[in-house]
Amino acid sequence: MMAENISTGNISSGSLANSGYADGRVSQPGVLDTTHGVVLYMDDISVSFDGFRALNKLSLAIDVGELRCIIGPNGAGKTTMMDVITGKTRPDSGTVFFGQTLDCTKLTEPQIAQAGIGRKFQKPTVFENHTVFENLELAIKTDKGIWNSLFGKMTGVQLDRIGQILETINLRDLYKSRAGLLSHGQKQWLEIGMLLAQEPRLLLLDEPVAGMTDHETERTAELLNSLAGSHSIMVVEHDMDFVNSIARKVTVLHQGSVLAEGSMAQVQSNEEVIEVYLGR
Ligand SMILES: Nc1ncnc2c1ncn2[C@@H]1O[C@H](COP(=O)(O)OP(=O)(O)OP(=O)(O)O)[C@@H](O)[C@H]1O
Ligand SMILES: [Mg+2]
Repeated sequence: MMAENISTGNISSGSLANSGYADGRVSQPGVLDTTHGVVLYMDDISVSFDGFRALNKLSLAIDVGELRCIIGPNGAGKTTMMDVITGKTRPDSGTVFFGQTLDCTKLTEPQIAQAGIGRKFQKPTVFENHTVFENLELAIKTDKGIWNSLFGKMTGVQLDRIGQILETINLRDLYKSRAGLLSHGQKQWLEIGMLLAQEPRLLLLDEPVAGMTDHETERTAELLNSLAGSHSIMVVEHDMDFVNSIARKVTVLHQGSVLAEGSMAQVQSNEEVIEVYLGR
């Protein structure tokens, strides 16, 4: 079912330990064909709920390694768009290409996750009774199903990766803590770490800083800035200070379509954007 094209960027296992692998990279082992530099291409997507058009001929493309911010008023269709990408909602029409060859509208939710789209919902969903380390260990093992059920022990490479992820998500000192004892923001970071452990080719984050303290929000911005370039990420947020601190290209959704796209300065000075969103 999946394309057989193995990305040429794979690093041989001998170099994994010192390659910064845990921090992820754009070319990871897998079947995704991103030879044209585009990781996600949504075209002409429409979704209706009881006659209401939540997405209206939405087209949007994300490049490999891009950190894209999506903003827009409540009800603009941002979460619905993520539901369509992840297979939770089937569009009435349109296509969602993940890489060159996978049409997400024809795949199931588990198939899409397996193909490499990781999604973080707003509420953290970590295993509260397990430690930070165990949560990451579980995430790594879930990803490598057959291999790990045969050779259940963690490899040195996997341990290195967990160490690097702990560093990235700022939880190294808390690796032995029970996840249930973490602050809301720390749980969010842990969940991002668990997604990273699965080496997603595209990471979708829906309102990651909602409910965070200002300090946690700033740390999250640093975290995402550190992932930009080596990861393809789509972030939906309402917190404009946060968006400003991570923004490269920004897409404004309104009534299920793209209203504007460009740099933060460009969208902030766009009259229509000011009217429907920023100027409120
Ligand atoms: N399962 C559903 N059934 C019916 N209507 C829905 C469903 N999911 C979303 N909608 C409607 O579709 C529209 C878009 O909702 P969506 O949640 O995608 O907006 P959003 O941009 O994520 O908003 P917010 O910023 O408030 O999270 C809204 O009017 C919402 O009420
Ligand atoms: Mg939403």
